Amino acid sequence: MTKERTTMNPIQLEQQYLVQAYSRPPFVLENGEGAWLQDSAGKRYLDLVAGIAVNALGYGDPEIAATIREMAARPLHYSNLYHSEPMARLAARLVDVTPFADRVHYQNSGAECNEAAFKFARKWAREHYGEGKSDIVAFTGAFHGRTMGALAATPRPKYQEPYRPLMPGVRFAEFNNPDSAAEVIDDGVCAVIVEPIQGEGGIHPADDAFMVALRELTHKHNALLIFDEVQCGVGRTGRFWAHEAYGVLPDMLCAAKPLAAGLPIGVVLVTERVAEIIHPGDHGTTFAGGPLVTAVADVVVRRISDPAFLKRVEQTGAYFKERIEEINSPHIREVRGRGLMLGVQLDIPAGPVVNAGYEQGLLLLNAGPDVLRIIPPLIISQAEVDIAVERLSAILAQVG
Ligand SMILES: Cc1ncc(COP(=O)(O)O)c(C=O)c1O
Repeated sequence: MTKERTTMNPIQLEQQYLVQAYSRPPFVLENGEGAWLQDSAGKRYLDLVAGIAVNALGYGDPEIAATIREMAARPLHYSNLYHSEPMARLAARLVDVTPFADRVHYQNSGAECNEAAFKFARKWAREHYGEGKSDIVAFTGAFHGRTMGALAATPRPKYQEPYRPLMPGVRFAEFNNPDSAAEVIDDGVCAVIVEPIQGEGGIHPADDAFMVALRELTHKHNALLIFDEVQCGVGRTGRFWAHEAYGVLPDMLCAAKPLAAGLPIGVVLVTERVAEIIHPGDHGTTFAGGPLVTAVADVVVRRISDPAFLKRVEQTGAYFKERIEEINSPHIREVRGRGLMLGVQLDIPAGPVVNAGYEQGLLLLNAGPDVLRIIPPLIISQAEVDIAVERLSAILAQVG
């Protein structure tokens, strides 16, 4: 490094050398414990973001650290060309906690899982019904990722417009509107993809009747139903999978964010009738299913699928929701969501609230222009919820 660079702080370095695809607040995070993060000046932040619904077990978890230490001493990568134990063990555990699923396919991120699910659906439809059954149905307000296929199913002009032409063959229906879904889903459709709770779109849970209608329509038109549980899955709602609240089972499910405690991972869970059309060479990726990541994910899945852990998430989430509803602010219109995936609908822009949070030592995130998204580490305590609510209440009084 040149002398000049060694005197630059991380914010200056970032501004000079990183593609400016993000705008970040003016502090540098460098440590964390439990549900708290700490910046380089020693200031502590209660974290209601969890690295965008990733850090479910919080920071400094001893079992995660021990697993990483143990696996770090062995080869970090073998590739998918060879057998290794952690990837096989995790697949079995995931199938155990997922009643509809028979098999697992590994990826590295949420978007990649949705890409894989689209490819599996197209191949499945082609093998069973021939060409011409290749369309995918997604919904208004959906977010399925930034890669070209996932982006094509993410109907937000700001995300899509600069990158056209997108992957063709995606149709849209209105979220939570069974009639709209019925108009759009026909025999030319190979798959329907839906988030049981829309995350980026503003924390909107799917209605029971909508989920039932999607299952009926996909059966009627021989299409596969894909649940995108990248944000709402893995304990976040107080159940291991968010869709368990509906009694509706998909043919494929994509999960990612919290699965490996902050390491990159994605999984597509599938039924046997989907898995049977995928053969060696049909789809792949260099890194996915690596030993360190899957060993860590095995710990995460074991811990989070424990009924006592899930019960605690459900209770803490209900308490959090109640406490936010009690905040005496004219700016709160509604609190929605399940477990520790809550959306606070404001009548003012969320941006200034998020910014004021930094001063108050509270990390907040928006979901759209006027919704605060509350997605803390799942291990957050009721006492910490009280602190968060106190700070949020002060912020709302101040920005109003
Ligand atoms: C529901 C949903 N699907 C897919 C994705 C994309 O996941 P990733 O950012 O890991 O590619 C996200 C990310 O926020 C998401 O919330």
